[in-house]
Amino acid sequence: MSTAPTPHAIRLTEFGPPDVMRWLPVDLPPPGPGQVQVQQSAVGFNYIDVYQRAGKYPLPSPTGLGHEAAGTVVAVGDGVRDLAVGDRVAMMNAGLGAYATHRNVPADKLAKLPAGVSEEDAAAVFFKAMTAQYLVKKTHAVQPGDIVVVHAAAGGVGLILSAWCKALGATVIGTAGSAAKCAAARAAGCDAAVDYSQPGWVEQVVAATGGRKARVVYDSVGAHTFMGSLDIAARFGLVVLYGAASGPAPAIEPELLNKKGCLFLTRPSVFPHNDEVATFRANAADVFDAMARGIVKASIGARFPLARAADAHRFAESRAGTGAIVMYP
Ligand SMILES: NC(=O)c1ccc[n+]([C@@H]2O[C@H](COP(=O)([O-])OP(=O)(O)OC[C@H]3O[C@@H](n4cnc5c(N)ncnc54)[C@H](OP(=O)(O)O)[C@@H]3O)[C@@H](O)[C@H]2O)c1
Repeated sequence: MSTAPTPHAIRLTEFGPPDVMRWLPVDLPPPGPGQVQVQQSAVGFNYIDVYQRAGKYPLPSPTGLGHEAAGTVVAVGDGVRDLAVGDRVAMMNAGLGAYATHRNVPADKLAKLPAGVSEEDAAAVFFKAMTAQYLVKKTHAVQPGDIVVVHAAAGGVGLILSAWCKALGATVIGTAGSAAKCAAARAAGCDAAVDYSQPGWVEQVVAATGGRKARVVYDSVGAHTFMGSLDIAARFGLVVLYGAASGPAPAIEPELLNKKGCLFLTRPSVFPHNDEVATFRANAADVFDAMARGIVKASIGARFPLARAADAHRFAESRAGTGAIVMYP
């Protein structure tokens, strides 16, 4: 008689370095009303996982970890009408706990995968592309002729964001931390790429814009880039601080925005952009359309067993890779 494998998940009872993540068997009840049970085949890494594991974005303890995954519906709770056993789905805003073999999630938080999208590709890009989607459509509706700067342009979000800005007709200047990563940024569609690990990167970015500076600066790096972002934004330009990979951006006086050219500053998040089910499903359809048109590509830079999530985190924090990291339950 064969027995189904016991569900496992990464659990944390303390916060700190990668080894605080423990791969443990978990009790999983049948899905409750409005929920479905997903057997996950691929789990995406997102840099927010590092902040949360390290305790920089505090969480209750004990907790699961992870936001993005894809898999197949294996059980359906009462009241679920729009999903059935066998449907392939992706998630990015279903609550913490995506680092797992199986999980119960609200059906409203799942997007059904179109036939042309594999679960591996969805795990690699869904969260990142949903992030790029609101950044280029809502935070600023990128227009043909806009000059945009994308920091960390060779990262998971950065590659997708750069390609999407380019497809919308913008001139895209990427930045990244090495010559090889600058080459990856150019290959993704950046018109120019500047190595921001080198002195003079701010002046080089301004030169790459022909001195006009940027209509929008997308900054997910924070501490290392933020003050420079204020200097590469054009007058009345928008600085979008959406992450802190190098540490939190320094606090500034509002008056500095006036001095730098009447700038706009925003600090958005993907979650409120997708907490209404109708909006979430419309945004997901936009992402799948961008995948079908080849704008969003699943560029997988590294693969790890989910039980070795600590290795995936060490790899991400080493800054060795380009593209997305995918883990396999
Ligand atoms: N607000 C939102 O809605 C939202 C949603 C999703 C993600 N994010 C943010 O977007 C960013 C990218 O996420 P991701 O999943 O694409 O991660 P990722 O692939 O690991 O990209 C992070 C990038 O940050 C750069 N970086 C600069 N300084 C770093 C440092 N000290 N340590 C590590 N990396 C550093 C690295 O590029 P170089 O080596 O080239 O510098 C790396 O490519 C993160 O800051 C994340 O929090 C925000």
